[in-house]
Amino acid sequence: MLINLIVNDQPKVFLCKPGDFLLDTLRENNYLSVRRGCDTTNCGVCTVLFDGKPVPSCSLLTVKAEGHHITTVEGIQEEADKMGKLFGAEGADQCGFCNPSIALTVYALKKELINPTGLDVKEYLVGNLCRCTGYIAQERAIKSYLGDKS
Ligand code: FES
Ligand code: FES
Repeated sequence: MLINLIVNDQPKVFLCKPGDFLLDTLRENNYLSVRRGCDTTNCGVCTVLFDGKPVPSCSLLTVKAEGHHITTVEGIQEEADKMGKLFGAEGADQCGFCNPSIALTVYALKKELINPTGLDVKEYLVGNLCRCTGYIAQERAIKSYLGDKS
């Protein structure tokens, strides 16, 4: 079956089977920033934005995304680069495996919440696990990014 998605603002058509998950569809089509972690909706490493909201792509059937906007980190490259510098400056990048998913989640948070508190940030990021236990450094970098109005 053919599924139409708008990926990073570009209309795309993907050949899929009914049971394919979005994570596999994206990776098979070279959106390799979308990573596979637990594959059980627990780690958040596979996060993409679905109409601007973070979702785990390992548990979203590609057919359910028909006609919707999907954003990967390639679609927010300028903001991701800005975040990457701040994560590096705070020693928060570590292994970097989770960075694309965290960048997407923080980007969505910035769009959705006005003047988020520290608690808002923690709650918004609750679905993104980092195995390097870098949360404190990540929090400093995220606060710095959210304060950046440029
Ligand atoms: S790979 Fe999707 S939540 Fe872990
Ligand atoms: S930086 Fe290593 S898993 Fe997050």
